[in-house]
Amino acid sequence: MFSKYVAIEGMDGSGKTTQAKMLAEFLKKQGFSVLSVTEPSKSALGKMISEKLIKEKYSPEAIALSFACDRMIHFDETIRPARGKYDYIITDRSYISSLAYQPLQGLRFEWVKELNRFVMKPDLIFLLDIPVEVFLERRGKTDVIFEKKEFQKKLRHSYLELHEKLNEDFIVIDGTKRIEEIHEKIRSDVMRLP
Ligand code: TYD
Repeated sequence: MFSKYVAIEGMDGSGKTTQAKMLAEFLKKQGFSVLSVTEPSKSALGKMISEKLIKEKYSPEAIALSFACDRMIHFDETIRPARGKYDYIITDRSYISSLAYQPLQGLRFEWVKELNRFVMKPDLIFLLDIPVEVFLERRGKTDVIFEKKEFQKKLRHSYLELHEKLNEDFIVIDGTKRIEEIHEKIRSDVMRLP
């Protein structure tokens, strides 16, 4: 058995975590085995990224390298051993986040892509797309460097551009729709995976 690897992507506050959870519950109810993971991961580096790197003054290069490195460590520690054991691996964010976020800090897209060259590519990617106004309504005060209005505005374009540019199975969903409606769309697309 080879696990199907599904990524949920989107801006901060787009509902990724809720949808990833709902999808996992649905699949488990259907009798499938599911591993749910997130990026940044739960590794020591993942924790350092979440607690420090995205909140303090680190260089864009250090941040991009750390995300890519965390992804590789996460693959070695968690994804590779799980690949044959679960029907589905669902990830809340993936290398797509790096391609969308890190170039907005002034890094060359091709360099960020190169850093992520060896990561496992999802079989199916969902992008929960929301306008920046919805992000502002949903998010409270935070010290994460990416959660600023101007950044999120550019981020939306960055994601939509990626959708055009990448040759991946990549589905854009209107993240302002009802939670149930979004869930039904995601699960029907996932069930169609070969
Ligand atoms: P995450 O923990 O997913 O935040 P949230 O659940 O609040 O959306 O990710 C933390 C932040 O790191 C988030 O702003 C997105 C950003 N990020 C990147 O810039 N590059 C990446 O490769 C990843 C995985 C996340």
